[in-house]
Amino acid sequence: MKFFLDTANLNEIREGASLGLADGVTTNPSLIAKEGDVDFKKHIAAICEIVQGPVSAEVTSQDKDGMVREGLEYSKIAPNVVIKCPLTRDGLKATRHLTDEGIRVNVTLCFSPAQAIVAAKAGAAFISPFLGRLDDIGENGLLLLQNIIEIYQNYPWKTEVLAASLRHPVHVIEAARMGADIATMPFKVIDQLFNHPLTDKGQTQFLADWAKSGRK
Ligand code: E4P
Repeated sequence: MKFFLDTANLNEIREGASLGLADGVTTNPSLIAKEGDVDFKKHIAAICEIVQGPVSAEVTSQDKDGMVREGLEYSKIAPNVVIKCPLTRDGLKATRHLTDEGIRVNVTLCFSPAQAIVAAKAGAAFISPFLGRLDDIGENGLLLLQNIIEIYQNYPWKTEVLAASLRHPVHVIEAARMGADIATMPFKVIDQLFNHPLTDKGQTQFLADWAKSGRK
């Protein structure tokens, strides 16, 4: 399973890359807004300098023509830019158009298996089911992921399943168990993957015993 960082923060992306855990990056308008008054295209370019894999840049137009215009423009930033389109009718029309022009599209804001099917039919390179946001409203995000993976296995569609809106390590572990192609997660979740109290306790004990033995 590939790991994408779900952030637009350059320091986090550099840290993720140095850990070997940044196979790609997903951004969205909210994540870009968190970075303050940055120039969008320059910021995406800066991310693409750090990460060789797919970097998602999201369109903000509502209509197909606007999305296509943005998609064509952003795809020129770097060869690894992927255009993120919302799972709306216009978003899918734009997905078809951009895909036919050879531009990879990540279809975002997917909350149902039916949406995942139409995104694949539109030629999406990636489908992003939002697990955490479904959990937030009392639905089962992991069940959605499982359904999409199962459905996609029936067909030769090329769309990669990108588990998104991951909030904690169990989301990551279960996504891996189900065979999701990619998991995108905030840096906080990457950090949580490393942590275990017995590792900390064991390391403290080893170092104390080493020091007690008089070795330097
Ligand atoms: C995915 O591409 C989205 O940017 C992201 O996973 C959304 O996560 P959130 O629900 O935690 O905002």
